[in-house]
Amino acid sequence: MSNYHIKHLEEYWQVYRKSVRHPEHFWEEIAEEHFVWRKRWDKVLEWDFDTPIVKWFQGGQLNITENCLDRHLATRGNQTALLFEPNDPNSPAEHISYSELHQRVCKMANVLKSKGVQKGDRICIYLPMIPELAVAVLACARIGAVHSVVFAGFSSTALATRIQDCDCRMVICSDGSYRGEKILDLKSIVDQALEECPEVSTVLVVQRTLQDIAMVQDRDFYMADLLEKSSADCPIEIMEAEDPLFILYTSGSTGKPKGMLHTTAGYMVYTAYTFKNVFQYRDGDVYWCTADIGWITGHSYIVYGPLCNGATSVMFEGVPSYPDFGRFWEIVQKHKVSQFYTAPTAIRALAKENVDYVNSYDLSSLKVLGTVGEPINEEAWHWYNENVGKKNSPIADTWFQTETGGIMISPIPYSTPTIPTFATLPLPGVQLALMDHEREEIKGNQVHGKLCIKFPWPSMARTIYGDHDRYRETYFSAYDQMYFTGDGAMRDAVGYYRITGRVDDVIIVSGHNIGTAPVEDAINEHPAVAESAIVGYPHDVKGNALYAYITLKESGEDRNHDNLRKEINELIRSRIGPIAKMDKIQFTQGLPKTRSGKIMRRILRKIAHDESNQLGDISTLLNPEVVESIIKGAMI
Ligand code: WTA
Repeated sequence: MSNYHIKHLEEYWQVYRKSVRHPEHFWEEIAEEHFVWRKRWDKVLEWDFDTPIVKWFQGGQLNITENCLDRHLATRGNQTALLFEPNDPNSPAEHISYSELHQRVCKMANVLKSKGVQKGDRICIYLPMIPELAVAVLACARIGAVHSVVFAGFSSTALATRIQDCDCRMVICSDGSYRGEKILDLKSIVDQALEECPEVSTVLVVQRTLQDIAMVQDRDFYMADLLEKSSADCPIEIMEAEDPLFILYTSGSTGKPKGMLHTTAGYMVYTAYTFKNVFQYRDGDVYWCTADIGWITGHSYIVYGPLCNGATSVMFEGVPSYPDFGRFWEIVQKHKVSQFYTAPTAIRALAKENVDYVNSYDLSSLKVLGTVGEPINEEAWHWYNENVGKKNSPIADTWFQTETGGIMISPIPYSTPTIPTFATLPLPGVQLALMDHEREEIKGNQVHGKLCIKFPWPSMARTIYGDHDRYRETYFSAYDQMYFTGDGAMRDAVGYYRITGRVDDVIIVSGHNIGTAPVEDAINEHPAVAESAIVGYPHDVKGNALYAYITLKESGEDRNHDNLRKEINELIRSRIGPIAKMDKIQFTQGLPKTRSGKIMRRILRKIAHDESNQLGDISTLLNPEVVESIIKGAMI
């Protein structure tokens, strides 16, 4: 018997030890007992972190949508699979049952086929949080097309880069989207992006806002028209275990975004298993993850993980502040949400508002709370625990990455005792290591180091689409035979892990990963800018805010600084998206550099953190004199 559902701490330890001693046997049992396969695998695992190559369940055949949908039809066809809560609180929620979702997925899958989509084709999905987003994801998976969801807050340039990188020929988008009081013009963003993507021959448009949009003849089609003519009978495409399931882009510290490629069987097994345990989901529960499906959390813990377990998963279109700061709690009360999963940045934003917004609602249905995306600070943890959980719902502080596919470190609620700011213990199958400056593993407890993973887990990304060298270089070259996460962590006296943050040039702002290089590239495009460097500094709601140090070209020196700041932020908004806008822009005479010409971000970071008294020895810099003027400028 597999240990699919862990119910107490002793059991966790027993399962964990088994998963480390016999990983293949451990995952094989789970795969066998809890999923539908069309053909059994020949080999559970093949791996080598040098190449690197990782293959799970080779020879196995399946379709993930059969596991998410078809197999539930007989037992829970009428149960709500997706519970859609629209932006407008006065519009009714939509309860989409497993059988209806199955039908809608089949119909859309047939639409894709009718437009020539074949197994292996990449499809870009640029949709707001409406049911069609989940349907489109599953429709791709049903016919073996590889979905590449791009968060619908990204700009046209960012969208174009992602479409080009994985050579999508089709885009699925909507006319517009609702976010609080705002209506966003998504189709025109797509049209602008497609000026750079002549290969895209088909655009399928879901109508949400019914605003006027331009339709390009023979390229753009209304989804509703096509669905109307489409059959609800769509047999699954039988997939190999290691066939690609999706690509999802994440920022790197350098260069263009990385298209993380996830494959079918291992991803399914791991996300389903971790969903069950981290959220302690039981039949009848209503689970709500507030993330957007444009991020990994939404892929794994709104769509695939919950549906594989036959769960009811809430999809929310709106924002936590509309019509007021009580919206989340109103939804929890209305749908009797049992598991609530959100980001620390949302918690901090809500904690700033009057606590009556929380207290006016009945939250007694809640059993488990979760957080993800960035370290949760102690104050926010306590606010969440006391006001939302009423000290009665354990908080799962879940650590994972786009690259890991599923949650890696988290308490098992009701089993693992929690401590604020600690993600606590690795989940079964996850073998962590902390590394020191000598690149050696640090053994023992009460230590701090760089976080690595030393054994493959089923849902790890298999490559960066089109760039396996970069995959090896980024994740497997820093330490011998280890996957390097890019995060620092400490292990306390009892072996609990606390994630301390990124150790590379990725800055997490409101839970979104921002790579410094692409933002600096955008800033440098401004004709007045000579050079720029951005760093993060602490912010009480966003976690980190962005600080740009910019030197101007001679021709730009007479320009009005406030106007320049506006133009630069506008440029960032158009190249990347509003999430990457600067909170602070300081114009400087120069940037501190090493003798080899590298910008010393460490020094800029200290200044931004208001720690310029701790700069250490700067005499080896190429230009130590600029530091003094930057410190002075920062104080203005
Ligand atoms: C950070 C998000 C501390 C971390 C699922 C990681 C966290 C990056 C936590 C991945 C957490 C995520 N505590 N830090 N519970 N969860 N992170 O790819 O730095 O958007 O490397 O995946 O977020 O961000 P990504």
